[in-house]
Amino acid sequence: MSLQPCTIMQKCISYSAPRVAVRFKESEMALNGKIAVVTGAALGIGKAMTEILLQQGAKVALLDLNETAGESLKEALDKLYGQQRTLFFHCSVESEEQIKAAFQKTVEAFGGIDILCNNAGILNEAEWEKTISINLVGVIRGTYLALEHMSKLSGGRGGVIVNTASMAGLNPLPSCPVYTATKHGVVGFTRAMAAASTASGYGIRFNTLCPFLVQTDLFSCMWDRLGQFSHMAGEAKKHADKGVLNVSEVADGLLELVTDETKNGEALILYSNKKKYMTFSVLTQ
Ligand SMILES: NC(=O)c1ccc[n+]([C@@H]2O[C@H](COP(=O)([O-])OP(=O)(O)OC[C@H]3O[C@@H](n4cnc5c(N)ncnc54)[C@H](O)[C@@H]3O)[C@@H](O)[C@H]2O)c1
Repeated sequence: MSLQPCTIMQKCISYSAPRVAVRFKESEMALNGKIAVVTGAALGIGKAMTEILLQQGAKVALLDLNETAGESLKEALDKLYGQQRTLFFHCSVESEEQIKAAFQKTVEAFGGIDILCNNAGILNEAEWEKTISINLVGVIRGTYLALEHMSKLSGGRGGVIVNTASMAGLNPLPSCPVYTATKHGVVGFTRAMAAASTASGYGIRFNTLCPFLVQTDLFSCMWDRLGQFSHMAGEAKKHADKGVLNVSEVADGLLELVTDETKNGEALILYSNKKKYMTFSVLTQ
């Protein structure tokens, strides 16, 4: 089985137990020629996002704090897609300097940025200031630095920014108040940026992904990271009983937000086996 991205791509869909190979002709790949950056790309949801973007023809810069996982993923992807399709940068979204350098090197190597996935995030109620710093400040920082390369007002081509929020960005998760606050912040920031982009002519669409629980390390470890709210783990586990998403379902949601040019300022809610767009009420005086 050749996975070289020359004429035909293979996509492994892992929604249900048997992995099914589906063939995509190059002409059917939605993101041919596009350049994407994914933060938190080495593991979990970010890894699945990276894979779907590559399968659809994009070049992808992977940014992650975890150097070992990032380098080993890059090595595996090189074998599937060739060395020229990806870059890996050891980078924390808490560092302005590191993100700036990673974006700059991406632009120098690939020729621009069309898609940014601000995905890196943690859940740790005990380390609540760090949670705000990564989940909310990191998304704002990544967005503002990307504008310098993507906005049509600063010579960019425009594009799309998708921020990974959570169902906790729309509904409070009482066992995780700070995680809830950061994800509400991400949804609000993204919606405001979408409106600012339309009003100012950035040429960039902004959307959020709001998944329920997803089978990743963050999910497996969350029960030990509730800090002073650990007595409420049972409440959070009730959500898990309703079904846990597979990372590929979140990646499919990302692809929809990236490719559907009618979507701007949207929050796509992903449940296990279903999805819907959030309807926001408009406040009037
Ligand atoms: N897993 C879930 O149940 C769930 C549900 C809804 C939303 N989310 C959100 O999805 C995103 C990804 O989470 P996940 O479940 O894949 O988690 P994960 O822990 O499996 O992966 C997170 C990745 O982000 C990286 N990372 C952490 N801090 C970083 C930093 N400062 N700079 C750069 N990279 C960093 C990690 O090294 C890791 O590779 C997060 O924003 C999370 O809040 C997760």
